[in-house]
Amino acid sequence: MTLTVRQKIFVCMGLLVLVIGGSHAITNQVYMGSLFDQFRKEEINAAFLNASPGDQVEILKTYVLGKMEFFWLGKWVFFLATGLFFSLWISGVLTLPLRKLIAAIERVAQGDLEVNVPVQSKDEYGKVIQTFNDMTLRLREAEDARRRLVADVAHELRTPLSIMQLKLENAQQAGQYVPPEMLLRLHDEVIRLSLLVEDLHVLSLAEAGRLALDRKPLDLTARLKQIVEDVKMEADENGLEIHLSSNTGPVTVMADPRRITQVFINLLTNAIRYTPEHGKISVEIEDKVMFRNTVYARVSVIDTGIGIAAEDLPHLFDRFYRVEKARSRHTGGTGLGLSIAHHFVRAHGGFIHVASQPNQGTIFTVYLPLGNHP
Ligand SMILES: Nc1ncnc2c1ncn2[C@@H]1O[C@H](COP(=O)(O)OP(=O)(O)OP(=O)(O)O)[C@@H](O)[C@H]1O
Ligand SMILES: [Mg+2]
Repeated sequence: MTLTVRQKIFVCMGLLVLVIGGSHAITNQVYMGSLFDQFRKEEINAAFLNASPGDQVEILKTYVLGKMEFFWLGKWVFFLATGLFFSLWISGVLTLPLRKLIAAIERVAQGDLEVNVPVQSKDEYGKVIQTFNDMTLRLREAEDARRRLVADVAHELRTPLSIMQLKLENAQQAGQYVPPEMLLRLHDEVIRLSLLVEDLHVLSLAEAGRLALDRKPLDLTARLKQIVEDVKMEADENGLEIHLSSNTGPVTVMADPRRITQVFINLLTNAIRYTPEHGKISVEIEDKVMFRNTVYARVSVIDTGIGIAAEDLPHLFDRFYRVEKARSRHTGGTGLGLSIAHHFVRAHGGFIHVASQPNQGTIFTVYLPLGNHP
């Protein structure tokens, strides 16, 4: 049986009262009995027997009160000492987990996140300690994520910066003249850097749930037609076929057109980037798809590309995650595209699902809720 701290205090106090009350009653009983026996032996003599009943009562009263003085004093000293000792012991036992927790909290306050307090009871203290352990675990994870982010950002910024630095140094050594094509390369790197910084900025906003959305009724079909049109040239250049199909008329969602466009641009850029020549990319729109009691508009981006191994799928939406093969700079990006898409869609109350077969292709499915959303 598990007792709560409140019940434990109640039981302990009850026991204390019982012990003191019980011993008080028993000692009284025993002592009074022995007192009268003693009186009979010591005080019942000729003088007592000759005294008037009033005097006899007076003699008895004086005798008993005289003896009781020491008895009461001894008893109160004993009860006081027992009560104090018991209360001290019980308060020490009951507050032990709290003292362990305070020590652990102080360590966390000093920046040590590696603390874990063993959970030894299922009472309120046990729950508080469990919550504290969960909290420090989450803090550790957040701290790890922050360290990884700083390392990743530093890594991503270093490459374009060192390219620029090298080119500028070379130009300087070659007599200060910078040819236009080199300026173009430098400009490309600056654009790459600004895009990266911008991506990181919106991603951090979206992750913190502070992404401002300018929601308005958006005709998804028309918007996707436009997006497909925009990426068609890139698909053609890569020898890929791309087309759009819809099972309904216009599908209207309450969404921020700029953010939604970025989601599908990211998905389509991936499909183009990770599909070899002669491959096919199709975008399918479906209206009124029910999922867990909510009606969604569903857009699938399907490619016949290199696919993604099952072990990579759970990490795909992580910041900076790139499948190893795609890490080389000429095919790989920064690994932020899917993370941004995931957070943008979530900010709209939707979600993205992915299914893939290596060397067969990949399907990214975006679910956007239909109707009037907050
Ligand atoms: N359609 C796809 N087919 C195969 N692999 C894909 C596909 N989409 C994404 N991936 C894999 O998932 C990884 C993460 O994609 P993500 O869009 O986040 O990053 P990226 O394309 O490498 O860089 P960025 O989009 O930031 O320029 C990619 O590096 C790639 O390995
Ligand atoms: Mg991408």
